Amino acid sequence: MPAARVLVTRQLPDGGLAPLHAAGYEVVQRADDTPFTPDELRAAVVDVDALVCVLADRIDAEVLHAGAHANPPLRVVSTVSVGHDNVDVAAATALGIAVCNTPGVLDDTTADLAFLLLLAAARRASDAEATLRGGDWTGFHIRDFLGTDVHGATLGIVGYGRIGRAMARRADGFGMTVLHHTRHDTGVDGWVADLDDLLARADAVTLHVPLTLDTTHLIDARRLALMPPHAVLVNTARGPVVDEVALADALERGALFGAGIDVYEREPAVHPQLLAAPHTVLLPHIGSATEQTRRRMAELACEGVVAVLAGERPANLVSG
Ligand code: GLV
Repeated sequence: MPAARVLVTRQLPDGGLAPLHAAGYEVVQRADDTPFTPDELRAAVVDVDALVCVLADRIDAEVLHAGAHANPPLRVVSTVSVGHDNVDVAAATALGIAVCNTPGVLDDTTADLAFLLLLAAARRASDAEATLRGGDWTGFHIRDFLGTDVHGATLGIVGYGRIGRAMARRADGFGMTVLHHTRHDTGVDGWVADLDDLLARADAVTLHVPLTLDTTHLIDARRLALMPPHAVLVNTARGPVVDEVALADALERGALFGAGIDVYEREPAVHPQLLAAPHTVLLPHIGSATEQTRRRMAELACEGVVAVLAGERPANLVSG
């Protein structure tokens, strides 16, 4: 029997492909590492058994159909991300294609970045550094760059999965009061049943929900208006969870103190109004971007492929 062929859409961190090599699979990759266009992806999935992709690759029903009806049929899609909103999981399931992701290996790294954004937005680190780098710093002024305290404040965590809980551990270390909201009672102290209530009570809010139809624009103009004007919003989840224009409006009007954002509604585009909004720290989707974590994510995605092709059920199976 010929070795299984696996299409990997990008160059991955060193060592990330090791599980595929160890299994003796043939790995197909483009030397130039440019993203596949949708047409190219549809054409590329027709002679592979498995696809390893990143969150910026849209694995839609058309790509999945092309793969499922080919010879050999595509059997598994594994995304090197914990979020799997880039894959049409329902279509994959209907076509008998397994979907894997990378849960559990990026929680602390992502929470570190969310906490960095919280601190940086609350303390206006980007504004202050831009002033210095721009040569506009005229010296110490006692009323310059006044931020808002993080220690001792109340943090509202929206979504209380692994990353949300990792945020709670960090907040404890800063002497924060921690509230969290999920739809179902977690049984953990600080659970708030009503999201609106949490938003009104928190000095800072951090988002850790997956992107679904229910969480699209979860934080919209109405909910932003519930937050106190001294509050800070942090989003390291997915861009569409927040209405970016409503957020920029609230910041412009001073209805919200600041925002630390790592994810955007239309990546890599960032709404010009958000780029211009005051008190923002804007990062280019780097939540899990450390050498160690990205390598582990790549390995885990590849381990999922190996398990599915061996007829086993991987621990990181989303569906299939
Ligand atoms: C990053 O955004 C991920 O989902 O892994």
